[in-house]
Amino acid sequence: MPDDAEALGRAVAESTDHLRPWMGWIAEEPLAIERRREMLAGWEREWAQGGDAIFGVFVGDRVAGGGGLHCRIAPDGLELGYWIHPAFLRRGLATRVAERLADAAFTLPGITHVEIHHDKANRASAGVPRRLGFEWLGEASDEPAAPAELGIEWRWRMDRGRWRRPPSAS
Ligand SMILES: CC(C)(COP(=O)(O)OP(=O)(O)OC[C@H]1O[C@@H](n2cnc3c(N)ncnc32)[C@H](O)[C@@H]1OP(=O)(O)O)[C@@H](O)C(=O)NCCC(=O)NCCS
Repeated sequence: MPDDAEALGRAVAESTDHLRPWMGWIAEEPLAIERRREMLAGWEREWAQGGDAIFGVFVGDRVAGGGGLHCRIAPDGLELGYWIHPAFLRRGLATRVAERLADAAFTLPGITHVEIHHDKANRASAGVPRRLGFEWLGEASDEPAAPAELGIEWRWRMDRGRWRRPPSAS
């Protein structure tokens, strides 16, 4: 929601050094507050129109990260993305976010699979689909979008028929 712009701005500012190696969009930061409000309003419009769904991850009233489902891989597939604030790492938060997003994706009629894509060098990101039992599809060359990326994309896939809530990630 646009009302979350200040909390999101704070979380992104605190996470900049941690995100810069992997997230291309951080190069646009810091955004002016008005621009961030417009961006959040744009995300809401996009979701309402059946497009990408972008969510904040909250711990209490603090923004602890973000996640989303992106309509860019196939008409019957969604790509799942996530980032976590450095104060909240290694406690299973990204795994829980990905799990909830996959749950949500598979409630949508016509969605048969979700994928997670990340650069091969991003070992932390690889842990999330691995822990959730996604199938590793292989690697493909890609334009590096952030400074630490090698330009080798790893792709992971979960099919609707194989999806269940893993007890380890509750
Ligand atoms: C990738 C990222 C979202 C992981 O967030 P997280 O909440 O710490 O992840 P989880 O606690 O759910 O970890 C799940 C598994 O991933 C692996 N993992 C996470 N961080 C790791 C690290 N720094 N090094 C190696 N493995 C790591 C582990 O296997 C971990 O399971 P374990 O803790 O039981 O060993 C976080 O590091 C991040 O925001 N990175 C920068 C942004 C980014 O790369 N986003 C993804 C772009 S594709």
